[in-house]
Amino acid sequence: MAERSPGVAVVNEEKSEVCVQKSMCQDIERVLISAEEIQDRVRDLGRQIDERYAGEDLLLIAVLKGSIVFIADLMRAISIPHEVDFLATSSYGASSTSSGVVRILKDLNEPIGGRHALLVEDIIDSGHTLAYLTRLFSARNPASLEIVTLLDKPSRREVDIDLFWTGFSIPNEFVIGYGLDFNQKYRNLPYIGVLKPEVYQPDLE
Ligand code: IMP
Ligand code: MG
Repeated sequence: MAERSPGVAVVNEEKSEVCVQKSMCQDIERVLISAEEIQDRVRDLGRQIDERYAGEDLLLIAVLKGSIVFIADLMRAISIPHEVDFLATSSYGASSTSSGVVRILKDLNEPIGGRHALLVEDIIDSGHTLAYLTRLFSARNPASLEIVTLLDKPSRREVDIDLFWTGFSIPNEFVIGYGLDFNQKYRNLPYIGVLKPEVYQPDLE
């Protein structure tokens, strides 16, 4: 039978990351946050959420698609009972900068009135997406509304966001992996990496 997964293992010695698809590794300038660092931090966040919401009716709301990997790990790091729901907003398309325009592509399945809603995001960049979502959800009268974001790029903020928990604060660089994409690709990388500029600015080549 033919070999179905002839992956090439490339090891990034600095962070001990193994990449099985060489073409994808070649697009990465460097690993910013390793898979181990992410897992440790997600466990911390899970414990903090356990304490904050003990005894409450907790609903995690993941913003698709970027937060799928984060919420999958985060919900398993939370030991108190909770439910999950999903919401989809428009993305930047093939651009790597925010348009500031937010559109709801898929709304929640469940009402959130009287419940403790925790929005799960991959990254807060300009803040436009979360500013819009907090306005939208506040109007539905949840018992509380807070945000947990894996990444925060504070230097890019255009709108203030309060009440949020952060996994990592990062510099102003376009990052991919662990759910985050460029042009819908790279979400499957287990770490957060920085793309080579020529990947998103082909003119540089
Ligand atoms: P904001 O509205 O500018 O805060 O950003 C909203 C969304 O843009 C995030 O939830 C991400 O999906 C996407 N985004 C922002 N910065 C990055 C990045 O560095 N890599 C990948 N996606 C990003
Ligand atoms: Mg997002």
